[in-house]
Amino acid sequence: MERTLILVKPDGVQRALSGEIITRLERRGLQIIGAKMLKVSNELAHQHYGVHKDKPFFQGLVDFITSSPIIALAVEGKDAIEAARQTMGSTNPLEASPGTIRGDFGLDIGRNLVHGSDSQENAATELALFFDEDELVSYPRDGQRWITES
Ligand code: RTP
Ligand code: MG
Repeated sequence: MERTLILVKPDGVQRALSGEIITRLERRGLQIIGAKMLKVSNELAHQHYGVHKDKPFFQGLVDFITSSPIIALAVEGKDAIEAARQTMGSTNPLEASPGTIRGDFGLDIGRNLVHGSDSQENAATELALFFDEDELVSYPRDGQRWITES
């Protein structure tokens, strides 16, 4: 089992798509093991998006992620990182396939609704930024054997 950090970004919350986004991840077979709504501070935004600090879009990204509340989700499942990113679609909604979150609900790369960690290393770092260990609740689901073989 793998864990990943998913954020419903400010546009997803403002457009009342949080439930839709969570539904799609759950329907895929992924399990939510942590959830919270928060307003991202400037400091947290710089920590979370630190890898992009030299990119031209960095300030816009920080301004956007701090502009309005988000919902942070800790998500667990087989190959959860890749599965979640596939369900999210390509970074630019115009390149995201229909049927993905970004492909169905987005038009603009700066308003792409959702974040998902892109590697095991980044998932661990990002989960620790948004959740304390005791806020993550691992629990067996009765239907798990109908989702994954092992
Ligand atoms: P995310 O981190 O949000 O899951 O998205 P990602 O891996 O698909 O994309 P990443 O390269 O990590 O970029 C982070 C976020 O920065 C914004 N962005 N804007 N204007 C631009 O060229 C540009 N490029 C990236 C996007 O909102 C992207 O999700
Ligand atoms: Mg990324």
